[in-house]
Amino acid sequence: MKRIAVLASGRGTNLEAILEAVERGSIAGEVALVISDQAAAQALQRAGKRGVKALFINPRDYGGREQYDRAIVDQLKEDRIDLVALAGFMRLLSAYFVNAYPMQIMNIHPSLLPAFPGLDGVEQAFDYGVKVTGCTVHFVDEGLDTGPVILQEAVPVIQHDTVETLHQRIHASEHRLYPTAIDLFCREKLKVEGRRCKIID
Ligand code: GAR
Repeated sequence: MKRIAVLASGRGTNLEAILEAVERGSIAGEVALVISDQAAAQALQRAGKRGVKALFINPRDYGGREQYDRAIVDQLKEDRIDLVALAGFMRLLSAYFVNAYPMQIMNIHPSLLPAFPGLDGVEQAFDYGVKVTGCTVHFVDEGLDTGPVILQEAVPVIQHDTVETLHQRIHASEHRLYPTAIDLFCREKLKVEGRRCKIID
């Protein structure tokens, strides 16, 4: 059984979808740890309610990004984590963190990468006026949303959408896609060759 850590800064609806999928048996792994950089993150409460170990690690207690990331990596090692899933974790990871878990860190991003990376992917796509956007699960490298793509799902932009209604539909899509990608990892079905991530059948 792979041991998964989920890192989240906010509402944690993706965390919830992952926890539900684990409970249903749709992910061949267990969530052993949830970490947040925000004391008030709803994600911490969601984990607590399901009896999952949940920690707030305060960036202000550390001298900079790399020191903070070292503290997180130490915790991940202590809990013998195999996969780190970023779920709305609003911090760029240092090279130290990425190198500690090569191709073992995933992120979910609310656009079809490489379009609209960074903050506010939904709003960027909406403002640009694209007719199709979506979400992407990718491995994390040192760049901003640049690692190998694992899965993507398209979401159409409809005539009367607002950023909020579009984000709701993208969220629904994320809640399907992320558990699927995590399960593929847990079953050792993902093989990265250069930039391409293959799904072994
Ligand atoms: C998700 O839509 C995720 O794609 C996005 O934050 C949201 C978190 O929602 N991530 C990013 O924008 C990363 N750049 P959640 O807290 O309800 O899971």
